[in-house]
Formats: sequence, C-alpha cells, structure tokens
Amino acid sequence: MKIYNIAIDGPSGAGKSTAARSLAAKLGIAYLDTGALYRAVGLKAMRCGWEENDAEAEKNLKNTDIRVEYENGKQIVYLDGENVSEAIRRDEVSSWGSRFSALPSVRAALLGLQRKISGEYSSVLDGRDIGTCVLPFAKYKFFLTASVDKRAFRRYNELRSKGTEVQYDKVRADIEARDYRDMNREVSPLRKADDAIEINSDNLDAEEVVNKMLSYISE
Ligand code: DC
Repeated sequence: MKIYNIAIDGPSGAGKSTAARSLAAKLGIAYLDTGALYRAVGLKAMRCGWEENDAEAEKNLKNTDIRVEYENGKQIVYLDGENVSEAIRRDEVSSWGSRFSALPSVRAALLGLQRKISGEYSSVLDGRDIGTCVLPFAKYKFFLTASVDKRAFRRYNELRSKGTEVQYDKVRADIEARDYRDMNREVSPLRKADDAIEINSDNLDAEEVVNKMLSYISE
C-alpha cells in the first residue's frame, strides 16, 4: 500500500498526542511525536548547559545523536544511546525544548529525521509545523486547538495525577509563554496550514476528537 501521512498541529495541551496516538492505532499506522525530538534536544541542552544561540547549538548538535525506535508499537527516543523517553517528559524540560526549538540549526537538524521516518512508514505526526513545513503535502492535515484555560486545566490535572505539586497559575503562565514562543519564532512558527481542518477540543473528549478526524478521512 502507498505510504501516506497525517499531520496534526496545534498549541501545547490541545490533545494532539492523545488524538494522534489513537488515530494511528485505529488506522494501523505509525505515530511520530515530533515534540519528543525537540524535548531530547532541550534535555541535552539543560544537562550540558548549552548557550541558547544558533551557532553554539549547531556546533553542539554535531556531537548529539537523536534516534527514534519503535518497541511494541511504542516510540522510544534515544539521546546519545540513552533511552530518554521518560526523562524528556519532566516539566522543566518543556521550557528548554521550547526555547531551543526556536533556533534554526535545531529545526534544520530535526527536519531530516522527521522526513526520513515519515517517508518510510505511513504515519501520523504531531507537532507545530508538520502541515506547514515538515510535510506540506501530507494527505490529511488537522489543526487542533483549545482555549488557554482548558489546556492549562488539563495539564494541571495531569501533573497532579502524577503526584507533582504545582500551582494552576504557574501552569497557565507556562502555557502562555510557550504559545507566545511557538507562534512568534522566526523559523516555522506555529500556525494553521491553509489547507488544514481546524478542530477545537474545548467541548470534545479525546474519542470525539478522533471520531471527527476519522469522519474527515473517510470522506
Ligand atoms: O509537543 P511538545 O510540548 O512535546 O513539544 C515540545 C516543544 O517542541 C514545544 O514547545 C514546541 C516544540 N515543537 C516544535 O517547535 N515543532 C514541532 N514540530 C514539535 C514541537
């Protein structure tokens, strides 16, 4: 069967990864969480104290190996040979990933990897610039949004359920700061592709979002 890709973009906390994982499972294709790659760069930058500038990042990335493998259908991210799939989820890594994702050298380094994987497997990719930059010719494109309050509330509940002590106001402020950075960076800012279908998840649960996507796909 011919390889095809589905792009899901949108701001943090809109439910992209849940929708993308479920959609990929229903369609029997792969799921690539591209934010995990930026998080891996952020984790390395945090651990090594990288300076936040493009020339330094370009130099440091030459000694950085990021790989993705699938084990029992689950995406595993390796950073210099270490499985960092759990470590990249830590809250402090989010802001490092977001800040370093604005650097052109970081985006260029990860572009090839994303295109390679999506060229080898039919897949659902979620991120910020999949429909606009990584896969402008993706067969289906969705832009998943939700209000800042809904997204902050979901993130707050998720962190609390994992036992992390957080203040709602801080979670909301972090989301707003990431939105601002993701939407205002010079290279590949977060925006809806002209041909993407917009879905607002404010009043939809995860299953309803996926069903909506499937209904467009089956059309
Ligand atoms: O989706 P996430 O929160 O795991 O992504 C982490 C950071 O990576 C996020 O702040 C924005 C950035 N990112 C990006 O710039 N482009 C992508 N395709 C995916 C993520």
